Amino acid sequence: MRRGLALLGVTTLTLAAVVGGPARAQEPPSPDCPWVGSDAPVADRVSQVLERMTRDEKLSMVHGSAGAFEFVGPVYAGLVPAIPRLCIPQLGLSDGPAGVGNGQTGVTQLPAPLALAAGWSRDLSARYGDVLAAEVRGKGADVALSPSVDLLRDPRAGRGFETFGEDPHLIGALAGAQIEAIQARGVLAQAKHLAAYNQETFRNTALDNAVVDERTLQEIYLAPFEDAVRAGVASVMCGYNYVNGVHACNNTYLLSQVLKGQFGFEGFTTSDWFALHASHAAANAGLDMQMPGGCHFGPRLRAGLDSGAVAGSRLDDMVGRILGQMFRHGLFESSGTGSPDQVVTTPEHVAAARQVAEQGTVLLKNDRSVLPLAATGSVAVIGEAAGAGVLGSGGGSAHVIAPSIVTPYDGIAQRAAESGAEVRFDDGGDRARAARVAENADTAVVFVSQWSTESKDHTGIALSDADNRLIADVAAANPRTVVVLNTGGPVTMPWLDDVAGVLAAWYPGQEYGNAIAGLLFGDVNPSGKLPVTFPKGLDQVPASDLARFPGGKYGEGLGVGYRWYDRQGIEPLFPFGFGLSYSTFSYAGLEVVGEDGTVTVTANVTNTGDRGGAEVAQLYLTHPEADEEPPRVLKGFAKVELEPGETRQVEFVLDARSFSHWDAERHQWIRSAGDYTVAVGGSSRDLPLTAEVRVPSTIATSEPTPAPPPDAPEGGDDALTRLANLVTCPAEALFAGAIGAVSVTGLPAADQAETPPRNPPTEG
Ligand code: BGC
Repeated sequence: MRRGLALLGVTTLTLAAVVGGPARAQEPPSPDCPWVGSDAPVADRVSQVLERMTRDEKLSMVHGSAGAFEFVGPVYAGLVPAIPRLCIPQLGLSDGPAGVGNGQTGVTQLPAPLALAAGWSRDLSARYGDVLAAEVRGKGADVALSPSVDLLRDPRAGRGFETFGEDPHLIGALAGAQIEAIQARGVLAQAKHLAAYNQETFRNTALDNAVVDERTLQEIYLAPFEDAVRAGVASVMCGYNYVNGVHACNNTYLLSQVLKGQFGFEGFTTSDWFALHASHAAANAGLDMQMPGGCHFGPRLRAGLDSGAVAGSRLDDMVGRILGQMFRHGLFESSGTGSPDQVVTTPEHVAAARQVAEQGTVLLKNDRSVLPLAATGSVAVIGEAAGAGVLGSGGGSAHVIAPSIVTPYDGIAQRAAESGAEVRFDDGGDRARAARVAENADTAVVFVSQWSTESKDHTGIALSDADNRLIADVAAANPRTVVVLNTGGPVTMPWLDDVAGVLAAWYPGQEYGNAIAGLLFGDVNPSGKLPVTFPKGLDQVPASDLARFPGGKYGEGLGVGYRWYDRQGIEPLFPFGFGLSYSTFSYAGLEVVGEDGTVTVTANVTNTGDRGGAEVAQLYLTHPEADEEPPRVLKGFAKVELEPGETRQVEFVLDARSFSHWDAERHQWIRSAGDYTVAVGGSSRDLPLTAEVRVPSTIATSEPTPAPPPDAPEGGDDALTRLANLVTCPAEALFAGAIGAVSVTGLPAADQAETPPRNPPTEG
């Protein structure tokens, strides 16, 4: 027993048991295994293997190998052992969305997914996925537990930093690009967490029940999973929460009717770690693999097969789906590369981390052009977050340990030395002293950080009092004060009117210091845009009342993120899609061409400033009133690089589905006839170009959601089976409870880097 229940309190979810041993069976292909190296259709190879498998072998493939009290499988977060007799290689599952996690070292700490999302670039997301997959493969694993396609419903969510923000279109587009890149490397992507998994409070208990109407579920929370399926995602993880009273991992509607039926998903589904609350009902609902252990899908599933509660054909389907993806991505042939001991970070990967941090940092305020900093001026760098308190990564399973982090101070000091600027540091511990240091510099840059982690939600969205006071005091001492936010999501800014500049850097990964120095000195022109609204206060957020968060009643419905602020006519602090540049951009020449069904929208974007830069053009659609959609919804975005004075055309293609809404009576997407408005511009609240689009006919743009399979009534196991589960699998029940209990205590902060970040000497 390597990881016991008792250890859960002191370890973190990132601590995979890294024990030695080869990553996978190295046996040469056997002549008895004609499916290895074969180019027969995948379905044929799957049938060939299934025909030869015993029932025990089949059962061994549908769950992880972790022992009763282990939180993770040997070596990786999860592991399905090899079956050498049939040349079936082992399947290693590795976290996670921001680089290789699970306590592994020698890896690249990429910026958090929310930082990537702020880059609004499919290409960047693909590069991120490519790095992630190369490192997962280098460590000898086969499945990347990534991307998270959850939506940032509330800024208090502990895992907000793991999301791509608050809009399903943006999430789906970035996830799709990333999944294709991950799988192009022969690594299976696992999109998570199906579905409406938006909080840590009460997690894995019946109190964590998302009560959400069908239309909202489909349009907001399930749509990104459909995009993941379109991109060919190999696997999908169900979440810890219940959805409308049924746990996500034994939820027939989610797993069978929507994912496998409506979306046509051919891959396999995996339970989140200890999120399995049922055995027979889960298998029948459409769950294919239990993680990280195997009591429910081992002895309990065997009992279900014996009693006839689960059909043998269902077990074949579960195994066939897993084998199918292993064949599709060449895992039978690509064995033996990589091992957990390998150092997998490379200079190219580090360069990618820097590029994402540069593109994902959002310039929120730049009064009187306080930025970029003068090449030869003096800068006061204030705050421990510029040194020892830096956060490259958030906590929990998405936590990644960097070899080392370039702190903001290090990056700025190096950049300043190159051009002859002067830098002083103060850790901000003594505010009066910090104000004196700030006063004597041309510009003061205050760095603040705030820890977010899986397992625990925030109770508010304010920075600590100490940080807010530090910023206020420094701003009082120096009118040229810039604040850099190193947080997992939106925070309030009571000092906003008193500072000249603000940058949101999120959790920017190990290249933070280099990236922020380049942005502050203007070597890099900021181009990030907010993937999430910054509210003025908690009272403005859509789920501000307790019944909604953490109560789980999704009363705001479609009014998520900017949809809510627009619908309610609320002025947020900074709107979705907003972000400044050191340049300026103008929009002109909107044209809409096309017939019923598909239209192409084009517009010209011009760089009207005197620096080269990138602009993210955004297209929002307004539905006819009868559709009852929020005032505008994002349907396209395009990032363009422009030299000063340069004009380029951006193009958005809107198909019939783009104009559709979910009809909860017909259980399908409908495009209504009527007048729509397309609006194009640089943020959700700055849309200078608009045009009307008349849609002449109403059509269905999808098949209806299929009915539930006859042997999978919605709900959990019956009372007798539940009792037998508890008697046979007590350890799993205990661990499941512990996962919930951790949401009360939270997880301790984990190491940011193998070489801990440090403060420079304070000079105040
Ligand atoms: C998280 C998953 C993660 C898994 C394995 C769970 O606690 O919710 O996102 O992939 O652990 O570490």
